[in-house]
Amino acid sequence: MASFRLSDGFLLGAATAATQIEGGDSNNNWADWASRGLISDGSSPVRANDHYIRWREDVELMKSMGLKVYRMGLEWSRIEPEQGRFDEAAMAHYREEIEAVIAAGMKPLLTLHHFSNPLWFEKMGAFEHDDSVAVFLRFAKAVIRGLGDIVSEYITINEPNVYATFGYFYGAWPPGHKSFKRAMRVMSRLAECHIRAYEMIHQVRSNMGYDDSKVSFAHHMRVFDPASPGNPIHKIAAKITARMFQDIVDAAMMTGDFKLPLRRPRDIGRGRYYDFIGINYYTRSTVKNFGDGVGAGVPINDLGWEIYPEGLIRCADSMYKKYQAPIYITENGTCDNNDRFRSRYIFEHLQQIAASDLPIERYYHWCFCDNFEWIEGEKARFGLVHIDFETQKRTPKRSAEFYRRLIEEHGVDEELYSEFAADQVYSFNSSSSGGE
Ligand code: FCB
Repeated sequence: MASFRLSDGFLLGAATAATQIEGGDSNNNWADWASRGLISDGSSPVRANDHYIRWREDVELMKSMGLKVYRMGLEWSRIEPEQGRFDEAAMAHYREEIEAVIAAGMKPLLTLHHFSNPLWFEKMGAFEHDDSVAVFLRFAKAVIRGLGDIVSEYITINEPNVYATFGYFYGAWPPGHKSFKRAMRVMSRLAECHIRAYEMIHQVRSNMGYDDSKVSFAHHMRVFDPASPGNPIHKIAAKITARMFQDIVDAAMMTGDFKLPLRRPRDIGRGRYYDFIGINYYTRSTVKNFGDGVGAGVPINDLGWEIYPEGLIRCADSMYKKYQAPIYITENGTCDNNDRFRSRYIFEHLQQIAASDLPIERYYHWCFCDNFEWIEGEKARFGLVHIDFETQKRTPKRSAEFYRRLIEEHGVDEELYSEFAADQVYSFNSSSSGGE
């Protein structure tokens, strides 16, 4: 049936990240990476969407779409431009923006770390440095002290597995290292940062008189399936990849269970370091030997990622079995440069959620607007709102109108489906790729 209703209390909104939309800051590792010509289309986050200036217009647009929740980030390098020097104007800026978000009817979920570091932190060795946990925590504490009265919900760290794997194992992202050992060390550190920040946020806000803190991290999850289901090598490879990239990471972050090759930091015990399960879900990988592949003949988006709606529930289910907590889909969306199939993608993923018994409570669509998509630059468009990066003109796409109606109706009926999604078609992967 081409319709569904969402459960009462289910909240829909959108997500962004500071570095991907703000523009104007050259004091972070991604601006530095871009200045060295390492972004595939030559663009830079110093331009991005100019959101740091145009945020009022963006908040208005979000309001007009009826978003109920908004996940946003802070740029650490703006708040602490030099080690130990905190910029009050930057804090005041974020405060004003968050107050406007709340006044527009959205509950904010604030991300403290989303892939970007101040340049001084990157230069000292980022999360490989022995002092990095203390340094990160001091920043995090300044944020909670400054904004804890208006923000109760936090993501400490976005996708630690992606940050560590791309920056320290594949070397495609800053700082460009290719070492398994270093990637694992960084992953362990990020888990320690999360656990200590989890405790700190609860503590600091409780000292401020609040007992409603909700803290977790945003886990990048995929389904890893064997390329040929009957092939024992593919099966083992899929299991190992899932374990190294995903399972050991959530065990460490969520419960302080550091399994090899992660290393348990001193003074960290087992515990429950989450108030909800945060999942960023995009795609499935099919595996032959190690890593990432895309099956032959499967529907794909404009970056070649498989579109696999069932995977969202498979990921949520595996996390729920382990951790039993409310589930927030902290990111889900697709690269669809011409908005040809985004409405269908949204429909199919939310339909999965509507049909599931799992306690999925929130959905943050990635992304509110086209933006600076890391190594892909400006050419991979994930937004509900189109951005002309030259003129900075914002234009809501048809998928934005679909999403607005879906939120308003708290579901999709046959009429809405046929108006927006019924005639949308995906492209298909011509041959099997990757997975080696
Ligand atoms: C996720 C990131 C987010 C965005 C999407 C497409 O891995 O968290 O910043 O780049 O992918």
